[in-house]
Amino acid sequence: MKYLLIIFCFSCQFVLAQKIQFANAVFKTGDNAAWANEQFEDKDWAPIQLQTYWEKQGYDKYDGFAWYRIHFNLPSSLKEKAILKTQIEIYFPGIDDADITYLNGNEIGKTGRMPEDPNGYKSGGRIKERHYLISADNPVLHWDKDNVIAIRVYDGGGTGGVFGDQHYIRFLDPIDYITMDTYSSIFEIHNKKVSKDIYFQNKYSGILKGILTTTVKWGDSLISKNNQSVQLLSGKSQITIKNLPLVESATVSFVFTEELEKKSQSAVHEIPYILTPIEKDIPRIHSSAIFGSKPGVPFLLAIAATGIRPMQFQVTGLPKGLSFDSKAGLIKGNTGVGTYSIKVSAKNKIGKDEKTIELQIGDDKVMLTPPMGWNSWNCWGLSVSDQKVRSSADAMIRSGLTNHGWNYINIDDGWEASGRLNNGNITPNEKFPDMKALGDYLHAQGQKFGIYSSPGSTTCGGFLGSYQKESEDAITYGLWGVDYLKYDLCSYRKLYPNGLTLDQLQEPYLVMYHALKSSGRNIVYSLCEYGMQDVWKWGKSVGGNVWRTTGDITDNWNSLKNIGFSQEVPASFNSPDYGFGDPDMLIVGFVGWGDNLHLTKLTPSEQYTHMSLWCLLNAPLMLGCDLTRIDPFTYNLLSNDEVLAIDQDILAKGPKKYEISDNLQIWVKELADGSKALGIFNMSNARVSKMVELKEVGLLDKYKIRDLWRQKYLISGNTIKVDIPAHGVTLLKIVSS
Ligand code: GAL
Repeated sequence: MKYLLIIFCFSCQFVLAQKIQFANAVFKTGDNAAWANEQFEDKDWAPIQLQTYWEKQGYDKYDGFAWYRIHFNLPSSLKEKAILKTQIEIYFPGIDDADITYLNGNEIGKTGRMPEDPNGYKSGGRIKERHYLISADNPVLHWDKDNVIAIRVYDGGGTGGVFGDQHYIRFLDPIDYITMDTYSSIFEIHNKKVSKDIYFQNKYSGILKGILTTTVKWGDSLISKNNQSVQLLSGKSQITIKNLPLVESATVSFVFTEELEKKSQSAVHEIPYILTPIEKDIPRIHSSAIFGSKPGVPFLLAIAATGIRPMQFQVTGLPKGLSFDSKAGLIKGNTGVGTYSIKVSAKNKIGKDEKTIELQIGDDKVMLTPPMGWNSWNCWGLSVSDQKVRSSADAMIRSGLTNHGWNYINIDDGWEASGRLNNGNITPNEKFPDMKALGDYLHAQGQKFGIYSSPGSTTCGGFLGSYQKESEDAITYGLWGVDYLKYDLCSYRKLYPNGLTLDQLQEPYLVMYHALKSSGRNIVYSLCEYGMQDVWKWGKSVGGNVWRTTGDITDNWNSLKNIGFSQEVPASFNSPDYGFGDPDMLIVGFVGWGDNLHLTKLTPSEQYTHMSLWCLLNAPLMLGCDLTRIDPFTYNLLSNDEVLAIDQDILAKGPKKYEISDNLQIWVKELADGSKALGIFNMSNARVSKMVELKEVGLLDKYKIRDLWRQKYLISGNTIKVDIPAHGVTLLKIVSS
């Protein structure tokens, strides 16, 4: 064992104006309820620092219980100096893993669960910081006397104990009682003006006042600045900011400065800007030009078309076994192997559109263009339910997204009951009363039905997996009418604690692939093993149609950037006959991974980048937001048919990346019609204006250059001036002229 030299003083405390900081404690491994008591004699305990884990202070490889005791004097001067003398906070920046904290023998807070708790030990997990609050008049506090904080820590493995820079006790400042929330509302756009609701929560028992400053800027230039006095009653209040200018990629900052202490809270947003032109009334068919399915199983293709309703659809050239519902625009039935060219037309009172779609029916033709739809995970997490799935499906139709090709409705983790039926079959939990009825409901609206499982005995969310029940589960999915299975490695890894070889990793995916053959349905098989062992090189060989190439995405720029801009190699394997790499689901709209949703933390420009890049990559487009709250900006992002056509392009050629400078990347993609799509991405935190020579990315001709987001031709030539907001994109299509 190694010991660090610790300079220790038994009652070290640093009294700053508003807080007392702790640096050291005394420490003992083991567990004894008496150690919580204030009077307990701990003079023979070992000294320990609070800044770092116990492993770094001589307790190598120690897992289990250990206690910290911190002695301090609580001077009444602290109270005298406090502005609001109501609540005291005891703060620890990190405790690894679970803890119960006592002050003078009384429990004041707990994070995680202890081994003796009814459901057993659970780490504090992502919650690292401990904010334990005590009322200032609580007799547990000993003013001007010695006090003892005792922390009972349980470490379930790895490092253990208290860590981090600043540990203290202090009075809460007025600003600490206030939260300003700018992510629960959208920016409303009316008559070229923008408004937004800001929600405040005042947890103090009385009124708190302050100034809310709203500043709009374009780059560094000030557009407007407004101060308004705000009185926050105890509880929730809402303030609507009106008449913000609708200036493309301007930023707005909201700063609330509390009156008594002048401390503030702030939030900065980019004001959303709409690029997609308003949808046309005339019919336009947007279904992909190729569509695949297995022979001899139920076939379903919903024709996606925009244009005012009523609209009549017609189809000619259907193979035997398929029929067409002209009102709903659905092709259904069951047909045999072959390639069939069908002609689809859509007509309304203004005009007509026609498109040829090639149906490819064969055992390996399950899916030929990246799936577009919705998955429950990024919004509802494990709180998904039948009702949430149905309302999402309905909202997809009502919003108009269906007309642009959005079709799959996929349930992620959280639908499974904790035990199987007596006959061994998997069954849903109480949130899903009837899976077959749900499947029928979706199919009747022309939507596809997706589900989720794991080859392990449990899923990542701790629900039941398919381990050793793969055939039974595949048959059950067939009976329910499933069209898509996301198969997530999760607990299967526990079978191989030292890591999986390639064969061991492929095996469970092959098992389910063979099982799905008996499902009697055309089930898209989506592999989820986070890109391990370069899944893009072998995904097809285990029957996959799409495969996750990365870990989970979250709604911030770093996550988007690290995942999206590292997909050149995985996407180079994509093709209709091989399958598609999946850089994870979309993080636009209201997301949240549970019951509390917030507006994505990506700026509007970052969201344009997200969609543009995913389309250049031919990525599956799975929405992860609450579809019942699609706002005009998000709809604009998801309904640009020229952008979506890049994703659905039937060549599905991976884009080539050119790093022009630290700040600029250009991704060039060949399209099936001989033209090219170009994403010019501004990776920097500031606007970039630049002349781009297409020669720099190997394009030597003269081209007609079209802006895909704005759907208009810009110029012809080989040079283009771009002006791109921070983290934004210019997405172009170029055709030799
Ligand atoms: C993760 C997976 C997520 C989601 C989650 C469910 O492993 O990457 O996309 O499916 O499990 O528990």
